[in-house]
Amino acid sequence: MISIQNLTVKYAQKTVLKDFSLDMNRGEIYALIGPSGSGKSTLLKALCGILKGESGRIIYNSGEDLSIGYVPQLYGLLDWKNVKDNIYLPLKLKDREKNEKEISDILHSLEIEDILNRYPKELSGGQRQRVALARAFILQPDLLLMDEPFSALDAFTSQVSQKLFLKLWSRYKVTTLFITHNIQEAVNLGQHILIMSKLSGKIVENITNDKELAKETRFQFINQVTESFEKLI
Ligand SMILES: Nc1ncnc2c1ncn2[C@@H]1O[C@H](COP(=O)(O)OP(=O)(O)O)[C@@H](O)[C@H]1O
Ligand SMILES: [Mg+2]
Repeated sequence: MISIQNLTVKYAQKTVLKDFSLDMNRGEIYALIGPSGSGKSTLLKALCGILKGESGRIIYNSGEDLSIGYVPQLYGLLDWKNVKDNIYLPLKLKDREKNEKEISDILHSLEIEDILNRYPKELSGGQRQRVALARAFILQPDLLLMDEPFSALDAFTSQVSQKLFLKLWSRYKVTTLFITHNIQEAVNLGQHILIMSKLSGKIVENITNDKELAKETRFQFINQVTESFEKLI
């Protein structure tokens, strides 16, 4: 279990998250949806340490250090480094051993082994997104945070990327918390769908998504999530 407890984050005088708490089962995917400005990106930034929380803590069951992978909105690739250097950067920063076999499997799964020498500006949106996924999965973090990872893609590319993400996720079972604006995407990927309220910066609904749902009930389920969401906006 990964437990976020009583996280409070402020920008100057403005409190965005107040006593935010969430328990996540290891190896599961959590989709976070919520109105614009409700503090979703702030939450991820605080969890990965880019922003300093005022108070709160993250507890990891075994008491070890929690390694966190973060894919920022629009991916955060470094324009002046080629794809290969972008992907290897976290390993370099953490001075971690490279497992070349593992890395080449990941690159192969994401179909990016032929573009390693290109620079980010020479890539399509979908390719950039897959490079960012590779960078995150290579670290095999205990917790993967992704800020609207599929939002900037056209519908088709987004579907392909979601499928590739699930393929990698099934292999590594990384606990994932990702933000989306797209309810269909939340339902496709999230085993848990979290709805954040604008006012309190808290999770107001935590809906379990049963992957075994029959098609008809799945449609009702999407309606149910949509209705919960509509109440907030
Ligand atoms: N660097 C910042 N300085 C001051 N206020 C910020 C900063 N970043 C975000 N905010 C404010 O914090 C609130 C939450 O923002 P954010 O976490 O980006 O929301 P979301 O990702 O849910 O759209 C918003 O009101 C936003 O204007
Ligand atoms: Mg955001």
